Amino acid sequence: SFEVEIASTGQVIQIGENDTILNALEDEGLFIPVSCEEGVCGTCVTRLLGGEADHKDVFLTDEEKAQMDQIAVCCSRAKSPRLILGL
Ligand code: FES
Repeated sequence: SFEVEIASTGQVIQIGENDTILNALEDEGLFIPVSCEEGVCGTCVTRLLGGEADHKDVFLTDEEKAQMDQIAVCCSRAKSPRLILGL
């Protein structure tokens, strides 16, 4: 598991092994626009301000993934203990 921090509020949310970032955010009342929920469409892509993402989507290019400044929250996870989202 890992955690995400909401940059604008400082709120920290735990993401369990069987949970997605998207679902954990929704549980806290933070609703991100989504469509496919499978890493294809890019609708859920959110700014990543800190931490290292474990990209699972097929929407971002390899170059974009390497830049580590955006993340598809419907399916991607974290390699670092915490991600900071630009929300
Ligand atoms: Fe389609 Fe996340 S909702 S990539």
